[in-house]
Amino acid sequence: AADARRRDTNATDPDRSVHVRAPGKINVFLRVGEVREDGYHDLATAYQAVSLYEDVVAHHDDGFSVSFTGSVDVSSLPTDSSNLAMRAARALARRTGYRGGVHLEIDKNVPIAGGMGGGSADAAAALVACDALWGTALSREQLLKLAARLGADVPFALMGGTAIGTDRGDRLSPALARGTFHWVLAFSDEGMSTPHVYTALDAHRERYAADIRPVSTAPTVEANVLQALRAGDPEMLADCLSNDLQAPALRLRPELAEVLELGETSGALAGIVSGSGPTVALLAADAESAIDLHVALSASGLRAARVTGPVAGARVVAD
Ligand code: C5P
Repeated sequence: AADARRRDTNATDPDRSVHVRAPGKINVFLRVGEVREDGYHDLATAYQAVSLYEDVVAHHDDGFSVSFTGSVDVSSLPTDSSNLAMRAARALARRTGYRGGVHLEIDKNVPIAGGMGGGSADAAAALVACDALWGTALSREQLLKLAARLGADVPFALMGGTAIGTDRGDRLSPALARGTFHWVLAFSDEGMSTPHVYTALDAHRERYAADIRPVSTAPTVEANVLQALRAGDPEMLADCLSNDLQAPALRLRPELAEVLELGETSGALAGIVSGSGPTVALLAADAESAIDLHVALSASGLRAARVTGPVAGARVVAD
Protein backbone atom coordinates (compact mmCIF):
# COMPACT_ATOMS: atom_id res chain seq x y z
CA ALA A 1 0.00 0.00 0.00
CA ALA A 2 2.85 2.36 0.86
CA ASP A 3 4.38 1.60 -2.55
CA ALA A 4 1.14 2.33 -4.35
CA ARG A 5 0.78 5.62 -2.47
CA ARG A 6 4.33 6.59 -3.43
CA ARG A 7 3.61 5.80 -7.08
CA ASP A 8 0.43 7.91 -7.01
CA THR A 9 2.28 10.88 -5.56
CA ASN A 10 4.96 10.43 -8.19
CA ALA A 11 2.48 10.52 -11.06
CA THR A 12 1.32 14.01 -10.14
CA ASP A 13 4.57 15.38 -8.64
CA PRO A 14 5.32 18.53 -10.70
CA ASP A 15 9.07 17.98 -10.22
CA ARG A 16 9.03 14.42 -11.49
CA SER A 17 10.69 13.78 -14.85
CA VAL A 18 11.01 10.76 -17.14
CA HIS A 19 14.19 9.81 -19.00
CA VAL A 20 13.90 7.78 -22.20
CA ARG A 21 16.68 6.53 -24.44
CA ALA A 22 16.12 5.70 -28.12
CA PRO A 23 18.63 4.27 -30.64
CA GLY A 24 19.77 5.30 -34.10
CA LYS A 25 19.48 2.73 -36.91
CA ILE A 26 21.30 1.31 -39.89
CA ASN A 27 19.41 -0.10 -42.87
CA VAL A 28 21.47 -3.20 -43.65
CA PHE A 29 19.25 -3.77 -46.69
CA LEU A 30 17.06 -1.18 -48.42
CA ARG A 31 15.21 -1.71 -51.67
CA VAL A 32 13.19 1.20 -53.04
CA GLY A 33 10.16 0.50 -55.23
CA GLU A 34 7.87 2.89 -57.04
CA VAL A 35 6.82 6.30 -55.89
CA ARG A 36 3.25 6.26 -54.57
CA GLU A 37 0.37 8.73 -54.74
CA ASP A 38 1.31 10.21 -51.34
CA GLY A 39 4.86 10.99 -52.55
CA TYR A 40 6.43 8.19 -50.48
CA HIS A 41 8.14 5.17 -52.03
CA ASP A 42 7.32 1.53 -51.44
CA LEU A 43 10.19 0.05 -49.46
CA ALA A 44 11.54 -3.23 -48.26
CA THR A 45 14.19 -2.76 -45.62
CA ALA A 46 16.00 -4.58 -42.83
CA TYR A 47 16.57 -2.25 -39.90
CA GLN A 48 19.11 -2.78 -37.14
CA ALA A 49 19.06 -0.50 -34.05
CA VAL A 50 22.60 0.42 -32.96
CA SER A 51 24.17 1.69 -29.75
CA LEU A 52 24.22 5.39 -30.63
CA TYR A 53 21.50 7.03 -28.58
CA GLU A 54 19.24 10.01 -28.18
CA ASP A 55 18.41 10.78 -24.53
CA VAL A 56 15.15 12.59 -23.91
CA VAL A 57 14.08 13.86 -20.48
CA ALA A 58 10.46 14.99 -20.19
CA HIS A 59 9.44 17.49 -17.49
CA HIS A 60 5.91 18.57 -16.54
CA ASP A 61 5.05 21.99 -17.98
CA ASP A 62 1.99 24.01 -18.96
CA GLY A 63 3.03 24.51 -22.58
CA PHE A 64 5.15 22.57 -25.08
CA SER A 65 8.85 23.30 -25.53
CA VAL A 66 12.11 21.56 -26.45
CA SER A 67 15.80 22.25 -25.88
CA PHE A 68 18.89 20.48 -27.23
CA THR A 69 22.38 19.57 -26.09
CA GLY A 70 24.62 16.92 -27.58
CA SER A 71 27.84 15.60 -29.01
CA VAL A 72 26.66 16.83 -32.43
CA ASP A 73 26.15 20.49 -33.43
CA VAL A 74 22.55 21.17 -32.39
CA SER A 75 22.51 24.88 -33.27
CA SER A 76 20.58 24.38 -36.53
CA LEU A 77 17.69 22.39 -35.03
CA PRO A 78 14.23 23.95 -34.90
CA THR A 79 12.79 24.31 -31.39
CA ASP A 80 9.39 25.60 -32.51
CA SER A 81 6.28 23.53 -33.16
CA SER A 82 7.81 22.15 -36.40
CA ASN A 83 10.17 20.06 -34.26
CA LEU A 84 9.31 16.37 -34.68
CA ALA A 85 9.69 15.53 -30.96
CA MET A 86 7.34 18.36 -30.06
CA ARG A 87 4.87 17.21 -32.72
CA ALA A 88 5.05 13.75 -31.16
CA ALA A 89 4.21 15.14 -27.70
CA ARG A 90 1.33 17.21 -29.07
CA ALA A 91 -0.02 14.25 -31.04
CA LEU A 92 -0.07 12.14 -27.86
CA ALA A 93 -1.82 14.90 -25.89
CA ARG A 94 -4.45 15.21 -28.65
CA ARG A 95 -4.91 11.47 -28.89
CA THR A 96 -5.40 11.04 -25.11
CA GLY A 97 -7.11 14.32 -24.22
CA TYR A 98 -4.27 15.22 -21.82
CA ARG A 99 -4.62 18.91 -20.92
CA GLY A 100 -1.08 19.82 -19.77
CA GLY A 101 2.19 20.15 -21.65
CA VAL A 102 5.81 19.09 -21.45
CA HIS A 103 9.34 20.41 -21.65
CA LEU A 104 11.61 18.02 -23.56
CA GLU A 105 15.36 18.10 -22.95
CA ILE A 106 17.07 16.23 -25.77
CA ASP A 107 20.69 15.13 -25.70
CA LYS A 108 21.67 14.20 -29.26
CA ASN A 109 24.35 11.75 -30.34
CA VAL A 110 22.87 10.48 -33.59
CA PRO A 111 24.00 12.72 -36.49
CA ILE A 112 21.47 15.26 -37.78
CA ALA A 113 20.19 14.48 -41.31
CA GLY A 114 22.71 11.63 -41.24
CA GLY A 115 20.58 8.74 -42.51
CA MET A 116 20.44 7.10 -39.07
CA GLY A 117 16.96 8.16 -37.98
CA GLY A 118 18.03 10.57 -35.22
CA GLY A 119 14.98 12.81 -35.53
CA SER A 120 12.77 9.74 -35.61
CA ALA A 121 14.45 8.46 -32.43
CA ASP A 122 13.69 11.80 -30.74
CA ALA A 123 10.03 11.48 -31.71
CA ALA A 124 9.79 7.87 -30.51
CA ALA A 125 11.49 8.78 -27.22
CA ALA A 126 9.16 11.77 -26.77
CA LEU A 127 6.11 9.51 -27.18
CA VAL A 128 7.34 6.99 -24.61
CA ALA A 129 8.50 9.71 -22.18
CA CYS A 130 5.27 11.73 -22.30
CA ASP A 131 3.15 8.60 -22.05
CA ALA A 132 4.97 7.68 -18.82
CA LEU A 133 5.10 11.24 -17.44
CA TRP A 134 1.42 11.93 -18.05
CA GLY A 135 0.27 8.44 -17.06
CA THR A 136 -1.69 8.13 -20.31
CA ALA A 137 -0.61 4.47 -20.56
CA LEU A 138 -1.22 3.74 -24.25
CA SER A 139 -0.48 0.23 -25.48
CA ARG A 140 2.55 -0.52 -27.71
CA GLU A 141 0.13 -0.94 -30.64
CA GLN A 142 -1.40 2.49 -30.04
CA LEU A 143 2.01 4.12 -29.72
CA LEU A 144 3.19 2.43 -32.95
CA LYS A 145 0.14 3.81 -34.76
CA LEU A 146 0.85 7.35 -33.53
CA ALA A 147 4.52 6.89 -34.44
CA ALA A 148 3.74 5.91 -38.05
CA ARG A 149 1.89 9.20 -38.55
CA LEU A 150 5.00 11.15 -37.49
CA GLY A 151 7.42 9.59 -39.99
CA ALA A 152 8.37 6.37 -41.75
CA ASP A 153 11.24 5.52 -39.35
CA VAL A 154 9.54 6.46 -36.07
CA PRO A 155 7.85 3.06 -35.45
CA PHE A 156 11.21 1.29 -35.77
CA ALA A 157 12.85 3.61 -33.22
CA LEU A 158 10.09 2.52 -30.82
CA MET A 159 10.50 -1.17 -31.58
CA GLY A 160 14.30 -1.40 -31.88
CA GLY A 161 16.20 -4.68 -32.31
CA THR A 162 16.13 -6.07 -35.83
CA ALA A 163 13.03 -5.68 -37.99
CA ILE A 164 11.79 -5.83 -41.54
CA GLY A 165 9.97 -2.72 -42.73
CA THR A 166 7.64 -2.62 -45.73
CA ASP A 167 5.15 -0.10 -47.22
CA ARG A 168 6.79 3.24 -46.36
CA GLY A 169 9.17 1.39 -44.02
CA ASP A 170 6.67 1.77 -41.18
CA ARG A 171 4.94 -1.59 -41.45
CA LEU A 172 7.17 -3.66 -39.19
CA SER A 173 7.73 -7.28 -38.40
CA PRO A 174 10.45 -8.31 -35.99
CA ALA A 175 13.23 -10.42 -37.53
CA LEU A 176 15.03 -13.26 -35.81
CA ALA A 177 18.55 -12.17 -34.98
CA ARG A 178 21.36 -13.82 -33.08
CA GLY A 179 24.50 -12.34 -31.56
CA THR A 180 25.97 -8.87 -31.91
CA PHE A 181 27.28 -7.11 -34.99
CA HIS A 182 30.22 -4.68 -34.68
CA TRP A 183 30.12 -1.51 -36.78
CA VAL A 184 32.26 1.58 -37.21
CA LEU A 185 30.35 4.67 -38.33
CA ALA A 186 32.07 7.38 -40.36
CA PHE A 187 30.29 10.71 -39.98
CA SER A 188 30.09 13.67 -42.37
CA ASP A 189 30.24 17.29 -41.35
CA GLU A 190 27.17 18.16 -43.38
CA GLY A 191 23.87 16.29 -43.41
CA MET A 192 21.86 15.33 -46.50
CA SER A 193 18.19 15.91 -47.21
CA THR A 194 16.33 12.59 -47.46
CA PRO A 195 13.80 13.87 -50.06
CA HIS A 196 16.72 15.08 -52.26
CA VAL A 197 18.27 11.62 -52.28
CA TYR A 198 14.95 9.97 -53.19
CA THR A 199 14.41 12.57 -55.93
CA ALA A 200 17.90 11.88 -57.30
CA LEU A 201 17.07 8.15 -57.40
CA ASP A 202 13.80 8.81 -59.26
CA ALA A 203 15.50 11.15 -61.75
CA HIS A 204 18.17 8.54 -62.47
CA ARG A 205 15.59 5.79 -62.95
CA GLU A 206 13.58 7.98 -65.27
CA ARG A 207 16.62 8.76 -67.38
CA TYR A 208 17.75 5.16 -67.70
CA ALA A 209 14.31 3.55 -67.52
CA ALA A 210 15.04 1.18 -70.38
CA ASP A 211 18.29 -0.14 -68.88
CA ILE A 212 17.41 -0.87 -65.28
CA ARG A 213 15.39 -3.62 -63.71
CA PRO A 214 11.65 -2.94 -63.52
CA VAL A 215 10.49 -1.80 -60.10
CA SER A 216 6.78 -2.36 -60.62
CA THR A 217 6.55 -5.33 -58.25
CA ALA A 218 6.62 -4.69 -54.50
CA PRO A 219 10.21 -4.83 -53.25
CA THR A 220 11.19 -7.58 -50.82
CA VAL A 221 14.08 -8.28 -48.46
CA GLU A 222 16.28 -11.04 -49.87
CA ALA A 223 16.36 -14.35 -48.06
CA ASN A 224 20.15 -14.30 -47.61
CA VAL A 225 19.86 -11.08 -45.56
CA LEU A 226 17.37 -12.72 -43.19
CA GLN A 227 19.59 -15.77 -42.98
CA ALA A 228 22.70 -13.72 -42.15
CA LEU A 229 20.84 -11.82 -39.41
CA ARG A 230 19.38 -15.05 -38.03
CA ALA A 231 22.82 -16.66 -37.98
CA GLY A 232 24.52 -13.59 -36.48
CA ASP A 233 27.19 -14.09 -39.13
CA PRO A 234 29.04 -10.86 -40.09
CA GLU A 235 30.81 -12.39 -43.13
CA MET A 236 27.49 -13.54 -44.51
CA LEU A 237 25.86 -10.16 -43.80
CA ALA A 238 28.82 -8.32 -45.41
CA ASP A 239 28.09 -10.16 -48.66
CA CYS A 240 24.51 -8.97 -48.84
CA LEU A 241 24.59 -5.38 -47.50
CA SER A 242 22.63 -3.41 -50.10
CA ASN A 243 21.01 0.01 -50.33
CA ASP A 244 19.22 1.47 -53.37
CA LEU A 245 19.79 4.96 -51.95
CA GLN A 246 23.57 4.51 -51.95
CA ALA A 247 24.10 5.27 -55.68
CA PRO A 248 22.15 8.57 -55.60
CA ALA A 249 23.82 9.52 -52.29
CA LEU A 250 27.26 8.91 -53.86
CA ARG A 251 26.33 10.96 -56.92
CA LEU A 252 25.35 13.85 -54.65
CA ARG A 253 28.40 13.35 -52.39
CA PRO A 254 31.23 11.70 -54.41
CA GLU A 255 33.67 11.85 -51.47
CA LEU A 256 31.62 9.16 -49.68
CA ALA A 257 33.02 6.64 -52.16
CA GLU A 258 36.48 7.36 -50.73
CA VAL A 259 35.22 6.76 -47.20
CA LEU A 260 33.80 3.38 -48.25
CA GLU A 261 37.07 2.50 -49.95
CA LEU A 262 39.18 3.61 -46.99
CA GLY A 263 37.01 1.51 -44.68
CA GLU A 264 37.35 -1.56 -46.82
CA THR A 265 41.14 -1.18 -47.19
CA SER A 266 41.38 -0.63 -43.41
CA GLY A 267 39.89 -4.00 -42.54
CA ALA A 268 36.11 -3.63 -42.77
CA LEU A 269 34.30 -6.66 -44.19
CA ALA A 270 32.09 -4.30 -46.17
CA GLY A 271 30.61 -0.83 -45.99
CA ILE A 272 27.29 0.77 -46.81
CA VAL A 273 25.74 4.22 -46.83
CA SER A 274 23.22 4.27 -43.97
CA GLY A 275 19.68 5.10 -45.15
CA SER A 276 19.79 8.23 -47.32
CA GLY A 277 23.29 9.09 -46.03
CA PRO A 278 25.75 10.61 -45.58
CA THR A 279 26.78 8.41 -42.61
CA VAL A 280 28.80 5.40 -43.77
CA ALA A 281 28.45 2.17 -41.76
CA LEU A 282 31.40 -0.23 -41.91
CA LEU A 283 30.87 -3.80 -40.76
CA ALA A 284 33.71 -5.40 -38.80
CA ALA A 285 34.37 -9.10 -38.24
CA ASP A 286 34.47 -8.75 -34.44
CA ALA A 287 35.00 -6.27 -31.57
CA GLU A 288 38.77 -6.31 -31.98
CA SER A 289 38.81 -5.50 -35.69
CA ALA A 290 36.22 -2.78 -35.04
CA ILE A 291 38.69 -1.15 -32.62
CA ASP A 292 41.48 -1.33 -35.23
CA LEU A 293 39.18 0.07 -37.91
CA HIS A 294 38.07 2.92 -35.64
CA VAL A 295 41.71 3.82 -34.96
CA ALA A 296 42.57 3.73 -38.69
CA LEU A 297 39.65 5.98 -39.68
CA SER A 298 40.36 8.45 -36.88
CA ALA A 299 44.02 8.57 -37.92
CA SER A 300 42.87 9.57 -41.43
CA GLY A 301 41.05 12.53 -39.93
CA LEU A 302 37.52 11.11 -40.12
CA ARG A 303 35.04 11.49 -37.28
CA ALA A 304 34.09 7.94 -36.42
CA ALA A 305 32.36 5.91 -33.69
CA ARG A 306 32.24 2.25 -32.80
CA VAL A 307 28.75 0.84 -32.19
CA THR A 308 27.06 -2.53 -31.86
CA GLY A 309 23.66 -3.82 -32.86
CA PRO A 310 20.99 -4.87 -32.39
CA VAL A 311 19.95 -2.91 -29.27
CA ALA A 312 16.56 -2.20 -27.68
CA GLY A 313 14.11 0.45 -28.91
CA ALA A 314 12.88 3.53 -26.98
CA ARG A 315 12.85 2.64 -23.27
CA VAL A 316 12.46 4.41 -19.94
CA VAL A 317 15.83 4.62 -18.17
CA ALA A 318 15.94 4.55 -14.36
CA ASP A 319 18.21 7.43 -13.31
O1 C5P B 1 8.77 9.94 -43.15
P1 C5P B 1 9.95 10.87 -43.18
O2 C5P B 1 9.56 12.28 -42.83
O3 C5P B 1 11.13 10.39 -42.43
O4 C5P B 1 10.41 10.91 -44.72
C1 C5P B 1 11.20 11.94 -45.22
C2 C5P B 1 11.10 11.98 -46.73
O5 C5P B 1 11.74 10.85 -47.30
C3 C5P B 1 9.69 11.93 -47.30
O6 C5P B 1 9.11 13.21 -47.33
C4 C5P B 1 9.92 11.37 -48.69
O7 C5P B 1 10.38 12.37 -49.56
C5 C5P B 1 11.06 10.41 -48.47
N1 C5P B 1 10.60 9.02 -48.26
C6 C5P B 1 10.07 8.32 -49.34
N2 C5P B 1 9.64 7.04 -49.15
C7 C5P B 1 9.72 6.44 -47.94
C8 C5P B 1 10.27 7.13 -46.83
C9 C5P B 1 10.69 8.43 -47.03
O8 C5P B 1 9.99 8.84 -50.46
N3 C5P B 1 9.28 5.20 -47.80
